Amino acid sequence: MIKKGIILAGGKGTRMSPLTKAVNKQLLPIYDKPLIFYPLSILMLSKIKDILIIVNKGQLEQYKKILPNGDNLGIKISYLEQSKPRGLPDAFVIGEKFIGKENVAMILGDNFFYGQNLSKLLLDNTKLSKGARVVLHKVLKPELFGIAKINNQKKITKIKEKPKKFFSDLAITGLYFFDNKVVNFAKKLKPSKRGEVEIVDLLNFYKSKNQLSADLIGRGGAWLDTGSMDDFYKTSSFVSAIENRQGLKIACLEEIAFNNKWIKKKHLKQSIKFYGNCDYSKYLTKLL
Ligand code: DAU
Repeated sequence: MIKKGIILAGGKGTRMSPLTKAVNKQLLPIYDKPLIFYPLSILMLSKIKDILIIVNKGQLEQYKKILPNGDNLGIKISYLEQSKPRGLPDAFVIGEKFIGKENVAMILGDNFFYGQNLSKLLLDNTKLSKGARVVLHKVLKPELFGIAKINNQKKITKIKEKPKKFFSDLAITGLYFFDNKVVNFAKKLKPSKRGEVEIVDLLNFYKSKNQLSADLIGRGGAWLDTGSMDDFYKTSSFVSAIENRQGLKIACLEEIAFNNKWIKKKHLKQSIKFYGNCDYSKYLTKLL
């Protein structure tokens, strides 16, 4: 069982400047919550309680104001800084001590997932004991993402980062499950032409050993990447539409913790006090 998870929440956020000049992208709102709540909720739905959040150098204090240490959620949150965006696999070098001898999940801080069978998919994938697993989703513009081609047995036959030529429309989402070898593989990577170590190179290590598998989010599920301003607003509208129709919140962290029986009513009351008089608190009051 994978019990440790990393949220990679650094990056310069240059595509969203000036919004990201003073505030990290992952703290900007997706409708009624900071973006970071959504990837964190995914790890919590995976029943992962030991979580490392990697943030940009100098932005730690911003995060600690909203997510101090996880006590209110019955989880353990720790933080490490990344001095500059050296690429996604850098997370496993920075997080080496945190990972220790265990397997690990990683989610990118700007990724949003939603759908009926999501919890099952997550729990299935945390059972990974050997190799690496990626989660794929069909997209209209494959040139914007890491892309994978799979065969009938869901084995990956080809992967490429932002391919210029079409070979598949299955994007590699920003949610990955790895065995412990990931730390050593990540250390061996050399930066690509754009000066970053590449997640696709890391995945190719596993592929060359025939240890890279894939899971698929079907058309009933949603995966949205909040990379650009436009995507940010689209994701916000999506959350608003669902929440206002159902009256149920997406990524309410306390609700997930409460349902997982990680916290008690007294913790919910503390959170209500912490957030103050707002809609989110009113929602938590309903849980009581
Ligand atoms: O969203 C899925 C895609 O994410 C995958 O399909 C691609 O294979 C993968 O490379 C990645 O592509 P992006 O172009 O979206 O990556 P980006 O550089 O925007 O970084 C994604 C997030 O990770 C973002 O929230 C910033 C953070 N980040 C990124 C880098 C490179 C860090 O915290 N540190 C880093 O060094």
